[in-house]
Amino acid sequence: EFIEWEGPFQEVYSPIYTRSSSTDELIKTKLGSYPICTTKESDLALKSALKAFNGGRGEWPSMSVSQRISAMENFIVKMVEQREKVVKLLVWEICKSYKDSEKEFDRTVDAIKCSIEALKELDINSSRTKADEGVVAQVKKSPYGVVLCMGPYNYPLNETFATLIPALLMGNTVLFKPPRRGTLLFEPLLNAFKECFPKGVINTLYGRGKDVIPALMQSGKINVLAFIGSSKVVNGMIKEHPNANSLHSVLGLDAKNAAIIDKTADIDLAVKEAVLGSFSFNGQRCTALKIIFVHSSVADEFNKKFTQEISKLKVGMPWEENVTITPLAEPDKPQYVQKCIDEALQNKGEIINKENGGGQILNSLVSPTVIYPANEKMNLLYNNEQFAPIIPIVPFDDLESPISYITNSTKGQQAAIFSNDEDTVSYLVDALCCQVGRININAQCQRGPDTLPFNGRKNSALGTLSTIDALYALSIDSVVATKDT
Ligand code: G3H
Repeated sequence: EFIEWEGPFQEVYSPIYTRSSSTDELIKTKLGSYPICTTKESDLALKSALKAFNGGRGEWPSMSVSQRISAMENFIVKMVEQREKVVKLLVWEICKSYKDSEKEFDRTVDAIKCSIEALKELDINSSRTKADEGVVAQVKKSPYGVVLCMGPYNYPLNETFATLIPALLMGNTVLFKPPRRGTLLFEPLLNAFKECFPKGVINTLYGRGKDVIPALMQSGKINVLAFIGSSKVVNGMIKEHPNANSLHSVLGLDAKNAAIIDKTADIDLAVKEAVLGSFSFNGQRCTALKIIFVHSSVADEFNKKFTQEISKLKVGMPWEENVTITPLAEPDKPQYVQKCIDEALQNKGEIINKENGGGQILNSLVSPTVIYPANEKMNLLYNNEQFAPIIPIVPFDDLESPISYITNSTKGQQAAIFSNDEDTVSYLVDALCCQVGRININAQCQRGPDTLPFNGRKNSALGTLSTIDALYALSIDSVVATKDT
């Protein structure tokens, strides 16, 4: 809902520096500002969402599925009208390349359309009658109530909408807080929200999480937490809820996706996929490859070809043609990468692409960097999620070594296997299928196509998201049962 805001405001700067025409100095580019909300506004937003839901009797949850679909189709039309503005803000706020920013926008629109189609199917099957043991029951998908949606900075639009849209389609009302980076890009869509959905159905909350989230959670009135981001943040949030143990949550969290390159692998293919997996959008993808295990017998060949391919990656500004490596979105990340490099060098690792610029850091730009041989003493790179263009490579002689790394990891999103030997592939699939949510054969890790279940094990996820699965995750079966007399 819209309130007149007199301040204070949080100024938003781009990670891109520009050169001052007068002093020739590098200066930060101001993009705009957003209100720093407090508990007062989070309380108002919550009241508004609760009122619009009205215990399931509000205008929105009471609408037929086809009415909700038509409101959403109307929203798509208005959203597409704002494409250029949103794409531009994606480019400047998080430095995603222009092409990838366009892709993020278009993929989001496609995902909404896909969810609508899935809902049409679901609606046909959802109000079903069950008769068993003398009981006749009507079973129907119903909304939970108020859903708090939060997405990450790396896919601010797409991954916020990955839960927000299905939550709406299923009749919930939502509160959503844009990520700290990737905030302004929602502004061009606020009018479309207002024009397409009844009052109070979507409530946008700006500000610092620590100012607005605890009060929301402590109210106990949030029925679902739909969060994509880091486990550290979400664990702190859930603890605040009085029903923390039973709060329904849909979560996409940490990942340390490993690639295993077997001695029989097609090395050229493995190199091509590993470059994409490790360095697309600077490695700032939850599905990025974050550690590579390579069989010792093919390590030299792989490393040589891998570093050759990396040297072709263009480092530059997001609007440049064919650019891969752009300024990092998190201001403290270059410093963190330096720490990873220092720790690796202290533990007998080398930057094997140093001759081609590996290990260079200039303001918010970090060149793609390869560390070899990596080992467990490099705690930051070996165990943590780097979310940056630096990749550790670990040589192995026995397949049990990467298997045990993945098995013992606290994260379990995806893994990639590169092998041309069917027995090895099936051995690895059997060993890993209860450790990670998805195994990619001779391909990098990735979320798409968005109709596929997107989930993970251990600290990586809770529940399954996809354009279809999210409809189930954000609704609950209501049963009305009668005794058959
Ligand atoms: O950051 C996590 C995203 O879900 C990754 O999606 O594999 O399509 O880049 P992607």
